[in-house]
Amino acid sequence: MRAVLVANPKGGAGKTTLATNLSGHFANQGKRVTLCDLDRQQSALRWMAFRDPAMPPVAGYFGGNQLTASLPRESDWVIMDAPAGFQGYKLSDYLRTVDKVVVPLVPSVFDMAATEDFLNSIRGEMRGRRGCIGIVAMRVDPRTKAAGMLEEFLRHFDIPIVTYLRNTQNYVNVAAAGLTVFDPPRARHRRDLEQWEPLLDWLAR
Ligand SMILES: Nc1ncnc2c1ncn2[C@@H]1O[C@H](COP(=O)(O)OP(=O)(O)O)[C@@H](O)[C@H]1O
Ligand SMILES: [Mg+2]
Repeated sequence: MRAVLVANPKGGAGKTTLATNLSGHFANQGKRVTLCDLDRQQSALRWMAFRDPAMPPVAGYFGGNQLTASLPRESDWVIMDAPAGFQGYKLSDYLRTVDKVVVPLVPSVFDMAATEDFLNSIRGEMRGRRGCIGIVAMRVDPRTKAAGMLEEFLRHFDIPIVTYLRNTQNYVNVAAAGLTVFDPPRARHRRDLEQWEPLLDWLAR
């Protein structure tokens, strides 16, 4: 069993989008996936409730009231969708429990400022576990000025950008149907699937 925490203190950064699509990817690979929704808003669980029963299944539960992390051992992958403002001893406990932390980050000055302390603190807490934290640059084209700004910002932290996901309504549309870009018909999302490859490789390491 491997566990991934998707976290960023800012709302709207793309945590639930990453968590649901990652779950969809592993489900389509025939893996047993549990999506643990730590957010009181329960967006991930709402997505699951919409999910087409004909699609590969994702199990899920609300973990927002648990004070410490406990993982469902029967799963191959556990994906945790953190709430905005996830911090303190609870965050520390989850950081100790998971294999990898994925931080979606939109290259705006507001998002970067809101994420700075968080990156400093998780980097400190995961000291000695190099390569466990990865950034997903959200809603950005790597050839733009915004991407350059994000790279410059991240240089201070020594945390890699694992991949860039473009800004597309595809994520909005699949979410509304309880689907992911990994569910059929995949051809429709070919360009997006290519962008996920580096993240999937990094998680498998
Ligand atoms: N790459 C993207 N392109 C377009 N819209 C996106 C993208 N990623 C996320 N969104 C949309 O942005 C909104 C916020 O994303 P969400 O995953 O809910 O953020 P969080 O869970 O961090 O609050 C959602 O409506 C989602 O569909
Ligand atoms: Mg969310």
